[in-house]
Formats: sequence, C-alpha cells, structure tokens
Amino acid sequence: MQTINHLNLLREAVAELRKSGRVALVPTMGALHFGHLTLMREARRHAEHVVASIFVNPRQFAPGEDLDAYPRQLAADKAALESEGVALLWAPTVDEMYPADFSTNVGVSGVSEGFCGAARPGHFDGVATVVLKLFNQVAPDVALFGEKDWQQLAVIRRMARDLDLTAPHVDAIIGVPTVREEDGLARSSRNAYLSAQERADAVALPRAMQAAAQAVAGGMAIGDALAQMEQAVLAGGFLSVDYAQICDADTLAPLTQRGTGPARLLAAARIGKARLIDNMDVPLG
Ligand code: PAJ
Repeated sequence: MQTINHLNLLREAVAELRKSGRVALVPTMGALHFGHLTLMREARRHAEHVVASIFVNPRQFAPGEDLDAYPRQLAADKAALESEGVALLWAPTVDEMYPADFSTNVGVSGVSEGFCGAARPGHFDGVATVVLKLFNQVAPDVALFGEKDWQQLAVIRRMARDLDLTAPHVDAIIGVPTVREEDGLARSSRNAYLSAQERADAVALPRAMQAAAQAVAGGMAIGDALAQMEQAVLAGGFLSVDYAQICDADTLAPLTQRGTGPARLLAAARIGKARLIDNMDVPLG
C-alpha cells in the first residue's frame, strides 16, 4: 500500500490505478475499527482498487469539540488498511487540504439542519466541503459511507445530486449498514472515550432504540415510543438525550405519525465525555 501526502502525487497514483480498473474511495478520519474495515472490504466488491483517506477534518469540529482529543493512530491504521488490501492511503496535511487563503464553504440546506446539524452548528458544512474536495481529488467511480452516520450520508447524497457530480455519481454513493459490537452498541472511534462502566451502560441506547422502533411498528404512537425511549436511555446511565426522532429516511423530515415511505429512528445521547449517535430502521409492517 502506498501512502501519499501531496495532491500532485495522488493524482498520478490514482491515474495509474485507473489503468487497471475501477477506483473506490472510502473517506475516514482514522482511528480505524472494524466498522471502517467493513467499508474497505465492501469497497473491494465494487472496484478493483480501493483508496482510503485519513484526514481529521478541522472544519467539521466546532470550537470546544474534540478535535484535539480525537484519537490518532496512523501506524496501526496503516497496518489495518494494508491487511484489507487497500491500494492507496491518501493522508493529506491540514495545510495541503486547506491552504491559508482557503475561502470556500459547501452548505447543504434542509437535510443538514436538524439532528446533529442543530446540535453541532457548521458540522455538515465542514463534512460537505471536505467530502467534495476528496471526491474532486480522487475522482472515484464509487464512494462508500457508513449508515452509522445516516444524516451525513443523506447530506452527501443530496450534495452529489444537487451538484450533478459524476465522480462519483449520486447512484455510486453506497451506504453500508452499521457494524455493531456483540451487545449491539454501534462501533465508533468515540467509544474509546468511555470508561468500562460507561461502555457497559452505553448499550442502553441501541436497546431502547430497538424497543422504540418495534413499539412504533407494533402500533404505538410515535410520541409515546420516543418518550419511553428517552426515559430508558437516561435510566440506563446517559447524562442527556440530544435528540430522538423518527423521520422520513431520505428527506429526514420529522414524522409525528407513521407514513407509508421508509422511516428511520435517529438519536444522539451523552454519556461520560462521549456523545454517541445511532439510527435504526422503523419497520412499517
Ligand atoms: P469517520 O467517523 O472516521 O467515519 C468514516 C466512515 O466510516 C463514515 O462513512 C462512517 O459512517 C463509517 N463508519 C463509522 N463507524 C461505522 C460503523 N460502526 N458501521 C459502519 N460504518 C461506520 O464520518 C467521518 O469519518 C467523516 O465525517 C468523513 C466522512 C471522513 C469526512 O471527514
């Protein structure tokens, strides 16, 4: 696996790969776990060559968030990517990505605005800006993102559709189902912030979400199911619930009643020093 830190070298290396097949891009911020590696494995099913990126993107962290504390472990990440058959690691510096006079911001209204967008102002502008740059830098045939970050995936798809992107085309943006620990907690680099007790308690979030999704599928009113869910999460050791909502799976418009299209339960809650997010399908029977 080649590791590249400069854009001109990246373009040359990707052009070389493209001579012998399709290129898949998997953007990450590093601190790779089994969820990320599942994306790499899935990418190999869609393309001959996998390009991974590792870039802890300052623009998607608000002041006071965990940019400095965000786990960094490049040597271990490289070894993991190598063993997944990744052809090329794109690991730009902050200066390479954002030169001093960088002046552009990509904002996607609507889908960016509720949920994590409300709790983390500017976050999705930072994500959209860096992902559009990564798309333009690598020009992949396909790109893969985790359903773990459902709103992020919706924002990126909307951007690709609205801006008529071709590399990748919106239909070549692939969502990969959330990879979970054995007890059901979604894998996340931020789980590293949890103490042993908090880690044990954290399972309350997916358990309560699962119960709420099933309750709604079984006919309980959405408001009642969400209220029960919040109670269970707080009783389970969480400090607060940032949001818990059922929405249209594509537009993310909040639902107060069951509709006919696919619905998704989205939640974020704080435990110890961590803010954990998760989402689940709401089966409509
Ligand atoms: P990061 O949090 O490192 O995640 C990289 C990719 O891995 C994202 O697409 C995310 O949804 C996916 N992922 C993380 N945990 C997962 C899990 N348990 N199951 C399935 N997929 C999982 O998301 C980002 O980085 C950044 O915002 C980025 C898109 C790289 C832009 O900076």
